Amino acid sequence: MPKISIKGQTMPSSPIRKLAPFAEKAKKEGKKVYHLNIGQPDIKTPQVALDAVKIANIDVLAYARSQGSESYRLKLAGYYAKNDIHIKADDIVVTVGGTEALNFTFGSIMDVDDEIIIPEPFYANYNGASVFSDVKIVPITSRFEDNFALPPVSEFEKLITPKTKAILICNPGNPTGYLYSKDEIKQLAELVKKHDLFLIADEVYREFVYDGEKHYSILKEEGLQNHAIVIDSVSKRYSMSGARIGCVISKNKEFVATVIKFAQARLSPPTYALIASEAAIDTPQTYFYEVIKEYDKRRTTIISELERIEGVKVARPKGAFYCIVELPVKDSEDFAKWLLKEFSYENETLMIAPAGGFYSTKGIGKNQVRLAYVLNIEDLKRAVLILKEALKVYNN
Ligand SMILES: Cc1ncc(COP(=O)(O)O)c(C=O)c1O
Repeated sequence: MPKISIKGQTMPSSPIRKLAPFAEKAKKEGKKVYHLNIGQPDIKTPQVALDAVKIANIDVLAYARSQGSESYRLKLAGYYAKNDIHIKADDIVVTVGGTEALNFTFGSIMDVDDEIIIPEPFYANYNGASVFSDVKIVPITSRFEDNFALPPVSEFEKLITPKTKAILICNPGNPTGYLYSKDEIKQLAELVKKHDLFLIADEVYREFVYDGEKHYSILKEEGLQNHAIVIDSVSKRYSMSGARIGCVISKNKEFVATVIKFAQARLSPPTYALIASEAAIDTPQTYFYEVIKEYDKRRTTIISELERIEGVKVARPKGAFYCIVELPVKDSEDFAKWLLKEFSYENETLMIAPAGGFYSTKGIGKNQVRLAYVLNIEDLKRAVLILKEALKVYNN
């Protein structure tokens, strides 16, 4: 039989989806499963985006421009300007989701065995991107006790080698919910300038910020033009993950020209999805007020409900829609499987994401899980009640 590549064998399967077969089985057995495991928002996609596709009068569904149509990129630049981020349409390459933006970025700035430093726990698909481009992730551990704040710059410096090409942060963070402060961004900006590295910020959760805090984009930093790369997406902002539209932004012209070559090699982003994404920029601001208010309510609800359970601790999230939770269990992966395979409370159970899969360093985070507060308040309360009952049974 012909052999699968080493790269193919190394490509990790999603730590979140790994439990899916157990959830399917539980559902077949008639159990209701509350999904706290994935970041699929239940929020309605803006009507303007859906309508634009319905009324589009298309005779030939043609390829779009590789970097995305000029009209969309111009409108996107307007969206960023409203967020006090001043870039030009030519600083943007439209991609098939933030995922492709990450792959193009890794491919454009790193060669085989080059290194990228990423604070852990991190979004697990960064592992996939590193395998795609044959590069090495060097993790730097951020701590639960600090709510996953930026580790000291001196710790980053210890990890920098001649092979280090970039530092990647996710702001606000998935899976941590941490929002980097302006001061932390400034520290990173100084560091990448000093060592001549790229600074990549995955800002797909930019809108999802609470407690009156403000998101500070790396694109606002003076003097970082040649270093800063932002990954973005419509998936979370407009609850449009099925559109598969994202973008990569940089003022570094050589980098953008390189990304465009990758974009040409895959021809174009999907045309209908571009129409929806362009229209989505006209989403009224009230939509965001409502959505953020709803997530904030869910956030405070899940935190207060969880903190009432003995032995459970929550790292307080200031952004995105996830939190890392410490449970009174030794092995959260075993607990997550057990929840689906063996447990039910009034014929209901939970699917949660064991946090070990978000760490690169083996053995860390084994008592932690990531919970996504993407359910309505009533379901969230119910889900936390089930967790409480499950812990009583599991620990006896
Ligand atoms: C931190 C982060 N970055 C990027 C993505 C990729 O998003 P998409 O490819 O849907 O744009 C996700 C999706 O969950 C994410 O959580």
